[in-house]
Amino acid sequence: MVSLYERAQKVLSPVSSRSTTLGVSEGKGSYVFTEDGRKILDFASGVAVNNLGHNHPRVVEAAKAQIDRLVHGGHNVVYYESYVALAEKLVAISKLPTKVYFSNSGAEANDGALKLAKYVTKRPAIISFKNSFHGRTIGAMSITASNASYRKLYEGMMPSVYFAEFPNLANSPYPVTDGKTPQPYFDQFDEMFRSLIDPYSVAAIVMEPVQGEGGYVVPPKDFVRYLRELCDKYGIFLIFDEIQTGFGRTGHMFASEYFDVEPDIRTVAKGIANGFPLSAILAKEEIMDQWEPGAHGGTFGGNPVACAAALATIEVLEEEGIANAQKQGSYFIDQLHKLQEKYSFIRDVRGVGLMLAMEFKDTEKLTSQEILQTVIAQCLEKDLLLLSCGPKKNMVRFIPPTTVSIEEIDRAIKILDEVLSSL
Ligand SMILES: Cc1ncc(COP(=O)(O)O)c(C=O)c1O
Repeated sequence: MVSLYERAQKVLSPVSSRSTTLGVSEGKGSYVFTEDGRKILDFASGVAVNNLGHNHPRVVEAAKAQIDRLVHGGHNVVYYESYVALAEKLVAISKLPTKVYFSNSGAEANDGALKLAKYVTKRPAIISFKNSFHGRTIGAMSITASNASYRKLYEGMMPSVYFAEFPNLANSPYPVTDGKTPQPYFDQFDEMFRSLIDPYSVAAIVMEPVQGEGGYVVPPKDFVRYLRELCDKYGIFLIFDEIQTGFGRTGHMFASEYFDVEPDIRTVAKGIANGFPLSAILAKEEIMDQWEPGAHGGTFGGNPVACAAALATIEVLEEEGIANAQKQGSYFIDQLHKLQEKYSFIRDVRGVGLMLAMEFKDTEKLTSQEILQTVIAQCLEKDLLLLSCGPKKNMVRFIPPTTVSIEEIDRAIKILDEVLSSL
């Protein structure tokens, strides 16, 4: 039998990098099933998308029912029930009076959020963070700084973007006391406003509340609160890119709840519809109301089937997913810490909820990157699917669905332990 991988090489662009050569035929819960009959424990969740596991029955049922009624209406043309009902739901779960704009992907939502911020503030500049990832369109890529290869040969991007240091306390060049942000991370903004950009020319500060690609970095709460104050002081919009952190991933509906800081604009995608392509910009009502008709748009945004799937997804998250993510997340991180005590080449274990990662350090025999590659390859041989992250490509991340069970976590830990012990 010619594998999907072999067929794909002939007809698909090589540009989209893939972390495996697996061909899958089905997915159910925490597992994917391959074309050659393997059952693989999936702790990658399609890169933090299947937050309720593969093909959750409630989501599939809602999508099928919607398909029978309306597949596409066009949100520039008509209104339809799942679209309005989902917006109502998103507003209801937002802390502040909010309005919603739907699009299709994370990058598209981020581009829209940048346009919204520029349009309403009438200011040109954006501040983003080093090691951030916001997507692959020109706009989103212009505020991304996690890997030079994403930008290679595309230079000359959106102008007036400034990058600040994101406080990664595990790798901080400054001494850290009581888990608090070292002062230079605060002072950098004064310096930036003195030497580079007038604060009143800044439309938005964009941040991932927990950096994803950049290494599952949870910033100290005082840093996030400081950004809120800074934005309030200068009339800058605070944008949270919650594309990876949203919809239960951190054990909360949104990571903003963990920090107890509300952004002015929030972008969401990935987990929102448990696998159907959908994204949204959620902005404070008074901001969204200033975005005039025609200033933004798109054909496929808010697809009826994706919206119906999202409504079902949010219901299940509220009923069980979020509580389970908190419970299993704290169990999982404890188990990872036990492995850290056992293996000296584990540099750090970090994360929040079910957004967890392990960072390696060099040994006499192996570099941390070699350790990572071996861990990912050998875990997959033992039917556990994991992804890497981090600017140095020396971290493995664990992003199981919020529906994961203790038995599945135990199985993953056992496989990981076997692989680590062989190094
Ligand atoms: C934090 C964050 N923002 C934006 C994106 C881009 O989303 P998409 O790939 O749907 O465009 C991603 C995807 O990994 C992400 O993790």
